[in-house]
Amino acid sequence: MATEVFFEVTCWVDPKVEGFEPKMEGASRNVLWVIEGTSCDLPWQAALFKGEKFICGGTLVDKNWVLTAAHCHVPGPSRNVLWVIEGTSCDLPWQAALFKGEKFICGGTLVDKNWVLTAAHCHVPGFISVRLGGQSQKDSGGTEQWRLSAKVFKYPRYNETNKDGDLMLIKFLLPVHVNKQVKPLPLASHCPVPGKTCQISGWGSTTSPEVTFPEDLHCAKVTIVSEEQCRLIYPSSITTNMVCAGESRSRADSCQGDSGGPLMCDGRLQGIVSWGPGICGDPKKPGVYVNLCKYTQWLQDTMRRN
Ligand code: ARG
Repeated sequence: MATEVFFEVTCWVDPKVEGFEPKMEGASRNVLWVIEGTSCDLPWQAALFKGEKFICGGTLVDKNWVLTAAHCHVPGPSRNVLWVIEGTSCDLPWQAALFKGEKFICGGTLVDKNWVLTAAHCHVPGFISVRLGGQSQKDSGGTEQWRLSAKVFKYPRYNETNKDGDLMLIKFLLPVHVNKQVKPLPLASHCPVPGKTCQISGWGSTTSPEVTFPEDLHCAKVTIVSEEQCRLIYPSSITTNMVCAGESRSRADSCQGDSGGPLMCDGRLQGIVSWGPGICGDPKKPGVYVNLCKYTQWLQDTMRRN
């Protein structure tokens, strides 16, 4: 409701209900009633549509809310309702953008001057270009650093079917210069705590189910959901190597294009954007992230040995 975009703040009311034929018993078919009223223009008046079809009127009662009658309810989610995923522009020195040639693939996190951590499902054959220190998709005045992948380490037991172990380390050909705009994020030293507020970020879609890709990096706050609760939401899909995070009272969520990016708790990397429902921002359905505390050993060993 908060962000369903199909309302017009104009007055469409036609005073004459032309062609209206009362079908009541005994009423004449040729009577045309004119409902009283005059043309007007009210800034709080809303019109509700289901697709192209006009349903009801409503009143804008807050910048985020429209009030209407309960009987105007139509079942959803509809393909025509466009949710706006919550998030605001931000700037993070550890956020990476992965490209194959010119094409944006995924997000990632700088975890060391030589390494970026992303999702295994972001893997593409050949070289991957990594951009750091750039807030905008396009460019950002000289603060960015581009690196080419030298080696790619997909987690060896990554399961493409259920997305278990969806992580991948990329080693650069040359290390980045660490500065204010480009700085690694340390890995979390403990497992996630249910109820904790964390931050997600990326250049993923800001609307759903139709996608809109932002120019700028976006950040949103999400709360860690317990494994038990998440298993109830996604029966037989959650492993102990996954962690769920979402907001039950807003549309904050990751979405298409955010994959591989960070879930940060207490200034440390706790997870990687992995999967979620096709329609993002459903307050009842959290996003699913790689539970990084289960991979500390593999991460350390891979970085040390290579
Ligand atoms: N797999 C998606 C990607 O490739 C991430 C989807 C996250 N979805 C969600 N509803 N949280 O970008």
